[in-house]
Amino acid sequence: MPSICVCKNIRRSENKEERGKNKEQRGKNKEERGNLTSHILISYLNTKKMKAVVISQFGGPEVLKIEERPRPVVHPQEVLVNVRAAGVNRPDVFQRKGNYPAPKDSVADIPGLEIAGVIEAIGSDVTAWKIGDEVCALVSGGGYASYVAVHEDMCLPIPMGMRLEEAASLPETVYTVWDNVFRRGLLKRGENFLVHGGAGGIGSTAIQLAKIFGATVYTTVSSEEKSTYCRRLGADYIVNYNNEDFAEQWKGIGIDVVLDSIGGAYFDKNISLLADDGRLVYINAMQGGKVELNIFKMMQKRLSITGSTLRVRDLHFKKQLTKDIREKLWPVMGREFKTAIFKRFSFQDASEAHRIMESGDFCGKLILVF
Ligand SMILES: NC(=O)c1ccc[n+]([C@@H]2O[C@H](COP(=O)([O-])OP(=O)(O)OC[C@H]3O[C@@H](n4cnc5c(N)ncnc54)[C@H](OP(=O)(O)O)[C@@H]3O)[C@@H](O)[C@H]2O)c1
Repeated sequence: MPSICVCKNIRRSENKEERGKNKEQRGKNKEERGNLTSHILISYLNTKKMKAVVISQFGGPEVLKIEERPRPVVHPQEVLVNVRAAGVNRPDVFQRKGNYPAPKDSVADIPGLEIAGVIEAIGSDVTAWKIGDEVCALVSGGGYASYVAVHEDMCLPIPMGMRLEEAASLPETVYTVWDNVFRRGLLKRGENFLVHGGAGGIGSTAIQLAKIFGATVYTTVSSEEKSTYCRRLGADYIVNYNNEDFAEQWKGIGIDVVLDSIGGAYFDKNISLLADDGRLVYINAMQGGKVELNIFKMMQKRLSITGSTLRVRDLHFKKQLTKDIREKLWPVMGREFKTAIFKRFSFQDASEAHRIMESGDFCGKLILVF
């Protein structure tokens, strides 16, 4: 008897184990069917077309052409965004001219570094978002298109009270300023901050964020109109560089952090304006990257000189930055921070948007709508 019991028990446990295995198998089948369904859906969506603004060859604004392209492939951790608006940035102009190639993992001939839109499909491993969610995102290229695939951790919700096209104007400048002014430049409450080109996209964001976080803001512009614009954004001291020398004007004040994209002759002036322990941060050098540094000045004031480019950073870095921005910055977006859209263009008029950007005859941001 005992042996039968043992046998039964074994059989029971074998049956239980089998039932468990069957259940596990059914679960796997269901999961596979789920994956297959989303795979079929994604494959189907990938066969569909999208509209894109394409750099047909390097050159002037006229080289931007509208083309039909296959929609991007959506990987398991990506979402497919139906783009409603894309921001235009100075680096897009450099890319169009052939001076700023897209990183390897990004589409080479469709510019565009920031978008906002509605999620139309999700990859099989996406957990953070669902179809229909509205998001904005930093992308490493391909933003001038009616669809982009974005890693789920790179998407941000639309800030409270903002329209999609306003949200599309945020990522490129917000990421750049947050990383360079606050993480590298370590700008703190009560410090003096100088940003050159205050009326541009980067400048508009830098002025506002520095004010929100309690700094005194200095900026340079080329006209009275741009000066008025910067004052409205909150800049405390403004120099029209066509009329005055900013280095003379602000001599002896002691600037704690400078954000510069001009380079050239501005380098020495920035060095002379910096306070003890000042930080000089470069995000471009439009007037030249080769400068002369007096090492003794740097030592005497204990200066830090740094800089960075955002686009080439890897996904891991960008995901961390997105998390940081969502936690520390997103709560003030749409409340204290106001978007500064100068003009909206249909994506079909992307060439015109680039012409205006190159003329410099605008304040704030230019936006393409789809
Ligand atoms: N490193 C990165 O990761 C990164 C990311 C984004 C952008 N960027 C760079 O940041 C810069 C600004 O980009 P953006 O999109 O804001 O361009 P933008 O909107 O065209 O703004 C550039 C501004 O610079 C001003 N400017 C030109 N020459 C000047 C000078 N000599 N002194 C003072 N201001 C001057 C222009 O206005 P005025 O008419 O007043 O001169 C304009 O407002 C670009 O060089 C871009 O490549 C770098």
